[in-house]
Amino acid sequence: MTGPYQGYVYAYPHKTAYRPLKPEPPLSEVWAGEDRDALFLYLHIPFCEMRCGFCNLFTRTGAPEELTGAYLDALDRQATAVRDALGDAAFATAAFGGGTPTYLTAPELERLCDIVGRFADLAAIPLGVETSPATATTDRLTVLAERGATRISIGVQSFLDEEVRAAVRPQKRAEVEAALDRIRAAGFPTLNIDLIYGIGGQTPATWLHSLDAALAWSPEELYLYPLYVRPLTGLGRRARDWDDQRLELYRIGRDHLLGHGYEQVSMRMFRRPGAGAADSGTGSPGPGPGSPGTEYCCQTDGMVGLGCGARSYTGGLHYSFEYAVGAGQVRAIIDDYVRETAFGTARVGFALDGDERRRRHLLQSLLQTAGLDRASYRERFGADAADDFDLGPFAERGWLERDGAALRLTPEGLAHSDAIGPALFSPRVRALMGAYEAR
Ligand SMILES: C[S@@+](CC[C@H](N)C(=O)[O-])C[C@H]1O[C@@H](n2cnc3c(N)ncnc32)[C@H](O)[C@@H]1O
Ligand code: SF4
Repeated sequence: MTGPYQGYVYAYPHKTAYRPLKPEPPLSEVWAGEDRDALFLYLHIPFCEMRCGFCNLFTRTGAPEELTGAYLDALDRQATAVRDALGDAAFATAAFGGGTPTYLTAPELERLCDIVGRFADLAAIPLGVETSPATATTDRLTVLAERGATRISIGVQSFLDEEVRAAVRPQKRAEVEAALDRIRAAGFPTLNIDLIYGIGGQTPATWLHSLDAALAWSPEELYLYPLYVRPLTGLGRRARDWDDQRLELYRIGRDHLLGHGYEQVSMRMFRRPGAGAADSGTGSPGPGPGSPGTEYCCQTDGMVGLGCGARSYTGGLHYSFEYAVGAGQVRAIIDDYVRETAFGTARVGFALDGDERRRRHLLQSLLQTAGLDRASYRERFGADAADDFDLGPFAERGWLERDGAALRLTPEGLAHSDAIGPALFSPRVRALMGAYEAR
């Protein structure tokens, strides 16, 4: 195992392990026989008002209204095809992710909610929506609140103007504070704030400053992301220094939030106890490496993704509609998507055999603070997780403990989540990811 920051396992297997499916299975076949009682609906909006230097999510800037309108038309067509293929299905939660879903105007967001309304009663299930400071406008937030959004997640990254500038994100603190004020005024049950550590020039003092500025809003949730694109200036010119800086800031952030009564859910996620956030449709399991994962629904296999770049999961197949991960061709891929009329098949994907399902279960639970419940694992797979996987090396490093009922990462283990996760990938997934050529 080399450094602590190998990769964020927000989903296993990673989309770079997907390959064209031949023949392309009809979605009705893909979903036949699946448990469809409590599905998760994810809609991806690949538009932003800015392109941040650190971000490699599937998104483009400057989309004109004709394009966002055509995108919603395509989403509508896809929704019809998917709805038909699913048959009887009930959704337990929904999320709009991106990109920046609130790049869409208030009337466009109404349309988006109407599309979701064909799958589920939005007033009855949790709905999470990602937003950015400039696009979290009162008219948009009002639509979202009226249509039943329960969780708003805003990317702030840093409350210091010079740090966001260093991260190449044009944003002013005053604009951030005003957006947070508007979000609180709209009355959503859950507010999540995203912060990033490891930015060039960031110090323990400036990191604490951002954490305190976020805490002043008493957010129900906070995501602390280690930066994954090396800063060009200051610390971080040498990889080791940057690793050390991020580990130090991680520990400072974790301890600060624990000291303020937050509980740690995973390496990145912190929650205010009793805030009722557990079921409020957390961030997007979107297509890009920075996307918040399906951390809240750790063993949920049933996810229906709509939109360009969105993935869908059944127990045995993870799939997506188009074949692309790289950001280089985002515009061309979105242009193809808006012209598409045939949404009835799974085009690219990865079929999970028994071993991959076990790995997925292991990864999704071990990387959470609560750990892996050995009895549930045994019930699902008829074996002990500790026999199925060689976890010895993690225990030897003091990263993993067994307390009878559970296998759990220690605090140091959690700090090394981004090394432990990738180390547990199967040889097959590793080989596919290694051979993937960004388009
Ligand atoms: C979809 S964005 C959040 C909403 C909105 N687009 C915004 O930026 O305000 C997802 C989050 O992922 C995190 N992120 C993206 N790329 C990252 C990277 N390379 N390193 C660390 N965090 C990253 C950021 O914290 C960002 O807020
Ligand atoms: S961080 Fe958010 S606003 Fe910036 S490019 Fe990524 S998705 Fe868009």
